[in-house]
Amino acid sequence: TFCRLEKQYVNKTDIPRCINVAVVGLSGTEKEKGAVGIGKSCLCNRFMRSSSIDFEDDHNSSLSSSDFSGRVVNNDNFLYWGEVVKTSKEGTEYTFRVIEQTEFIDDSTFQPFNGVKMDPYIKRCVATQIESAEKLMYICRNQLGIEEKFEQKVFPPGKFNVDGFLCVFDVSVVPGRSIEKQLETVTNILKNIKNTTRPVVLVTTKNDELNEAYVQEVQKLVSRYEFKKAIPIVETSAYLNVNVDAAFIALAHIIDRFKGRTKIVPYLESVKNY
Ligand code: GTP
Ligand code: MG
Repeated sequence: TFCRLEKQYVNKTDIPRCINVAVVGLSGTEKEKGAVGIGKSCLCNRFMRSSSIDFEDDHNSSLSSSDFSGRVVNNDNFLYWGEVVKTSKEGTEYTFRVIEQTEFIDDSTFQPFNGVKMDPYIKRCVATQIESAEKLMYICRNQLGIEEKFEQKVFPPGKFNVDGFLCVFDVSVVPGRSIEKQLETVTNILKNIKNTTRPVVLVTTKNDELNEAYVQEVQKLVSRYEFKKAIPIVETSAYLNVNVDAAFIALAHIIDRFKGRTKIVPYLESVKNY
């Protein structure tokens, strides 16, 4: 698929390949995810708008019902983060369009919106054909309710075909969430992604506060027999902007059947250049 962009390209072959990415991982009420989320939104924010003035860390998923039905959330349980062009180390341009699969919580009942008739998150988040009419790009929480004061970009009309997944795993310790809970959820999500036949990269988040035992659990998880095709792990920190672009580029390389070597630099090495 090719995307239409503002920039004019001379030949069709000059148009950057368009990569549609779904960012997934443990989500839900505080009972499921603990005191804070695993870092999907912060990862997306850093990737789409990386400068420090555009980076915010409050993308709390608890909403009023009017914000849930406004045009940004649009009664969905996913966010459209917009599109961005990035260049890989070997010089290939890619246009990434990014959605985040999450679970919005009603701030008056503390229950998920659309609670009853919905598929469970682990099933819903691996959808590969996504539609939402007139949905607007999400920028920040302040935008909700005053959309006209912010840049308005519409989610592509028709079916949005997910080319690959970034499956997020938080390697920091969060009160109220056990490592077992996260391992179980991510194992199930990876199994469901496998059934879609789309590629996946496992992205660890919050490596600036990593717990060594959690890092090892993630390595064990991806080496388990169910996922024979090795799943690459990219260790990130959205706070420090370490390896964030690398995670998306690693996925683009798999989707694009890149013939060269995708160099994935471990967090502790990457952070030295920070
Ligand atoms: P839901 O969408 O609600 O499931 O959560 P999420 O996965 O989108 O999590 P979100 O990105 O909102 O991050 C939750 C919190 O984790 C943030 O408010 C930060 O406090 C913290 N966090 C996110 N990224 C980082 C990071 O790179 N380093 C550290 N130390 N904390 C982070
Ligand atoms: Mg989120």
